[in-house]
Amino acid sequence: MKNYVAPSLLAADKNKLFEEIKLAEDSGAEYLHFDVMDGKFVPNISFGLDDLRKISASHKMINDVHIMIEDPDSQAIEFAKAGADIVTFHLEALPCLGCMAKTIKSLHDHGTKVGISIKPGTKANTLEPFLKDIDLVLIMSVEPGKGGQAFMKSALRKIKYLRRLIDRHQYNVLIEVDGGINDITGALARQAGADILVAGTYLFGHNDFKERVNKLR
Ligand code: DX5
Ligand code: ZN
Repeated sequence: MKNYVAPSLLAADKNKLFEEIKLAEDSGAEYLHFDVMDGKFVPNISFGLDDLRKISASHKMINDVHIMIEDPDSQAIEFAKAGADIVTFHLEALPCLGCMAKTIKSLHDHGTKVGISIKPGTKANTLEPFLKDIDLVLIMSVEPGKGGQAFMKSALRKIKYLRRLIDRHQYNVLIEVDGGINDITGALARQAGADILVAGTYLFGHNDFKERVNKLR
């Protein structure tokens, strides 16, 4: 099990984005979580390809790109080209189970890691057929689409289930959890077996950013 932290840029002050990124980097966080929303798969719109192009090379953290979009198959490789180190798409956005196979391969050929995310209403065992082919699973602990929501404890059961499965089969897959993470829910997620904690509103806008990152370890 790993002990990584991924500040979510969605909660950063957009008027001083590069200062906020520096704050994240100086805190020792390993990943920078970058949320893409298309206004269709989720109602809101957030960062897009142009933003990623500008941001991805401006720091040394791992560009962890979470695409909440309707047609990940056609778009995923564009995010890889724009500098994503990991592209995580939603299982619920796929028209069929085998649909992403070619795209997963092309992302890997490009040197980009691949993650699959599930919303709170999707069962953890739906991820099982993918575990041998991907690098990360992202368990949503809120409904995707906005920051600042309360952590849903149902995510803990899913994390535990996946931790056991991944360890038993020795899959090389990280477990990431996203939504409502703070010092208390973060500790529960770690206990359940999460490798990466994403946190937006808990970290940005607070002057003890680094201490908060350390509390998530
Ligand atoms: C929500 C996003 C999250 C969001 C988390 O759809 O995927 O990454 O920024 O925000 P907090 O940590 O505030 O719940
Ligand atoms: Zn996210």
